[in-house]
Amino acid sequence: MTVHINSLQEIEKMRVAGKLASEVLDFITSFIKPGIRTNELDTLCHDYMLNVQNTIPAPLNYAPPGYSPYPKSICTSVNHQVCHGVPGEKKLKVGDIINIDVTVIKDGYHGDTSRMYYVGEPPIQAKRLCEITYESMWRGIEEIKPEKHLGDIGCAIQSFAENLGCSVVKEFCGHGIGTKFHEDPQVLHYGRTGTGLKLKAGMIFTVEPMINSGKASIRQMADGWTIVTKDHSLSAQWEHTVLVTDVGYEVLTLSAGAPPKPVFRF
Ligand code: MF3
Ligand code: CO
Ligand code: CO
Repeated sequence: MTVHINSLQEIEKMRVAGKLASEVLDFITSFIKPGIRTNELDTLCHDYMLNVQNTIPAPLNYAPPGYSPYPKSICTSVNHQVCHGVPGEKKLKVGDIINIDVTVIKDGYHGDTSRMYYVGEPPIQAKRLCEITYESMWRGIEEIKPEKHLGDIGCAIQSFAENLGCSVVKEFCGHGIGTKFHEDPQVLHYGRTGTGLKLKAGMIFTVEPMINSGKASIRQMADGWTIVTKDHSLSAQWEHTVLVTDVGYEVLTLSAGAPPKPVFRF
């Protein structure tokens, strides 16, 4: 496995792509209301990327080995949908939680980020899951520093989530990212301290835990993409693209509307 070490020039391009991806999430925020269809959110984001940002939506027609080409420009995963939800005719309703996952390509470089949104006022347990997942992502990110290990990130996420009675989805992970959407290393959201790849300044990868309120098991839907929890329990996910710096980390997918790092509460 070779993990790319980015030059200053490449890092600058990844900063630009990361901010643009986050700005798509800022843009879509005010449209997330009861009654809107997920394919309307897709069209809004698609047009914003192409016409306002001059970016390319990386998901559109993305076809990793074993998959049919992804038919839309963003992923919209509602309630028990874990990830890769394909936008469609389904209308959002009061109390839903939805993950929107955006990946843009600018000047050949990828920025990948996702957030959870509330539709109206969801039940307290649904909001709690979103908050736990957000804090789990940040607890993982806080581990990032040269000479630390990928297992430190996974362990921080897993121990935190499981101590609160939640479960970590094991089949999908964070990933290296740059001129390619998905590259080495695989960033597991579970693991043991001091194991796995040793981090070096200049590495760029995503941290994107998927946390379920029930059991960890998942199923793929007949569309070949949408992943749901087997027990239909709620699932949440947040994602940032992160650079390993000489002293720690820099989150690349920040913008005016990105929520701040939380005060660790749980
Ligand atoms: N954005 C997702 C990730 O975080 C990947 C989505 S692949 C797609 O890695 F084809 F479904 F868009
Ligand atoms: Co990703
Ligand atoms: Co993503």
